[in-house]
Amino acid sequence: MDMNLRKIAMQKELTGNNPQQILFAEEIPTKKILYLPNSKREKLENKFKNLIHEELKLGSVVSYVGNKNSPFLRIYRYKEAFTFDFVMGFLRRFEADSTDYVFDPFSGLGTTMYTSMIYGIPSVGIDKLPIAYFSSKTLPLLLLLKENELKEIWTSLTPKIQKSEPAEVALDVPIMKVAFDEQTLLTLRKLKSAIDDLSNPYRDIFLLLFFSILEECSFTSKDGQFLRLNRNKKISSPIDAMNRKIAQVEEDVRRMKLLSSDIPKNDKFMPDVYLADTRDLSDIRFKKKPTIIILLPHRLMLIDMTIRGLMCLSYAFILSRTLRN
Ligand SMILES: C[S@@+](CC[C@H](N)C(=O)[O-])C[C@H]1O[C@@H](n2cnc3c(N)ncnc32)[C@H](O)[C@@H]1O
Repeated sequence: MDMNLRKIAMQKELTGNNPQQILFAEEIPTKKILYLPNSKREKLENKFKNLIHEELKLGSVVSYVGNKNSPFLRIYRYKEAFTFDFVMGFLRRFEADSTDYVFDPFSGLGTTMYTSMIYGIPSVGIDKLPIAYFSSKTLPLLLLLKENELKEIWTSLTPKIQKSEPAEVALDVPIMKVAFDEQTLLTLRKLKSAIDDLSNPYRDIFLLLFFSILEECSFTSKDGQFLRLNRNKKISSPIDAMNRKIAQVEEDVRRMKLLSSDIPKNDKFMPDVYLADTRDLSDIRFKKKPTIIILLPHRLMLIDMTIRGLMCLSYAFILSRTLRN
């Protein structure tokens, strides 16, 4: 049977008479009420209850913890990210292929598009948070790296760091006044300048690695949705931290080659990523109608993510006013 017909037949089988309903194999007998009686939330839950099917076992794969060992996805910890297995599981479930167009309206770290690219499936993602937009569009670039490519660039970049002019950062953002010791902040600012002088895709890739070391070089630690300050924390030197990150990326380049030899070697399946508010799609240039939408479980949407990107954004010269807003 033609792939598309098979897919439609499978979806019909899954959805019965209701084309919008998505049913999965496993039935969950009990359901905990997580909202107040008579609340707007309850009305919404009731209105859509025939369309919602819970599969609680997926809980363990919607958290970034499952990405701890995933090539590339382990590099920048975006706590609310899906795991690779979560996205891959759904792509397989729907037998997605290159004729599909996967859409993640809340793209976050970019797991959905990154995983789609690995499987040669075109995809599009949107996030309104600049750091999420940035990582969503940068993560797939790592898939195009050759062995030792990044290591060589890092070797030629390191002697330039100390000679670089310290980059401007949003020092008026309150957390920047307490997050780093003076010497570390100076090195980070010089490192940022040296990275800014690289050409793309290396600038973006190095910037993602740079963002990923900020926490270990700072007196802060992620705690729930906040950054907690701990002046007694043992901090890493930015250069050592970058050395470790580069080694990690190089290891991942090798692992990816072993794991999947058929990853696209070109940018044919490079995802489209937009910095936008998903509630208004009027400016989004979809290549075609998305055929698969993967988004976070609605119950997780209660968290304000902006706090997470604060330090990264401060290095990206976003005005403090924008941050506060
Ligand atoms: C749980 S994360 C998404 C996880 C993502 N699928 C991944 O694998 O990393 C939710 C994301 O939704 C974004 N977001 C929340 N409201 C949004 C909106 N109205 N428009 C666009 N993005 C939004 C947040 O910035 C956050 O990055």
